[in-house]
Amino acid sequence: IDNVEDFKYKLITHRGFHLISAIHSPEEVDRIQNWEIQDSDVFVVTYPKSGTIWLQQILSLIEARGDIEATKDQLNSERMPWIELIGSEEKFISATPPRIRVTHLQHRFVPISLRQGTGKVIYVARNPKDILVSYYHFHKYACMLETPKDFNEFYEKFMEGQVYGNCWFEHIKTWYSHRDEMNFLYITYEDMIKDLRSEVERICVFLGKDLSENELEDVVKHSTFKNMLNNKQANYQQIPISLLDQQNGSFLRKGTVGDWKNHFTVAQSEQFDQVFQEKMKDVLLSFVWD
Ligand code: A3P
Repeated sequence: IDNVEDFKYKLITHRGFHLISAIHSPEEVDRIQNWEIQDSDVFVVTYPKSGTIWLQQILSLIEARGDIEATKDQLNSERMPWIELIGSEEKFISATPPRIRVTHLQHRFVPISLRQGTGKVIYVARNPKDILVSYYHFHKYACMLETPKDFNEFYEKFMEGQVYGNCWFEHIKTWYSHRDEMNFLYITYEDMIKDLRSEVERICVFLGKDLSENELEDVVKHSTFKNMLNNKQANYQQIPISLLDQQNGSFLRKGTVGDWKNHFTVAQSEQFDQVFQEKMKDVLLSFVWD
């Protein structure tokens, strides 16, 4: 791509879901539901900016039993790619188990047998105010997405679900309401910030991985924000400039809880709380906001 400006695509809407025309194909997304799933397959499901990249690092290290050298042969984004990216199906079919994949898709788009209990799902949630802020900054440096005029404009877009991933409330509510039909682990970004070791242990139990104390320590050590930032397999700085303008941002941006307070106005925060209460009133999930 010669001119990055030419690459600033708008979203395309397919069966009510917004896709990014530069990297997704509606026809291929439609085929995903028929993929054949094995019990060893693992799908990390996230709304964008909830810590997908973090799980890619943690799971890479769990598979490698904490041995960072063994993860250096490949970028995490290639080892555990998004299923909705163009060309994913063939790679999925030919990959050796365990096939670990990530996705931002809504529940209705993923393989039917996964939804019916074959394979495993790890759903990573994050408080949506911080997601909104992280996503705003991401839009400013992702060349495949439209640059927002300012935070206020992006706030409106997010609230209307006019972003890739659609409405946050719908994403989490639908996935969570189907949890009993799947092999499903729910974890949160804030719990990982608070006690990464415990969350890594939960993930290991869920995956049936029996790591030693030292191996667990190594997984945790190499999955901290600081160590990921210095690890080119994990920090996404190798993603081409045509997709991410590395001069203008970083995938590993801040890695904290509560950055929304530096962006939201009081009015926006109050409005958000109101919408949250309304939309989440029947959902037994609580979030850590700071
Ligand atoms: P911020 O923009 O708030 O910093 P995703 O991979 O789903 O797009 O999520 C990216 C977000 O997860 C970014 O949030 C990024 O900094 C954060 N993140 C990734 N790895 C992390 C880590 N080890 N510790 C804390 N935050 C991390």
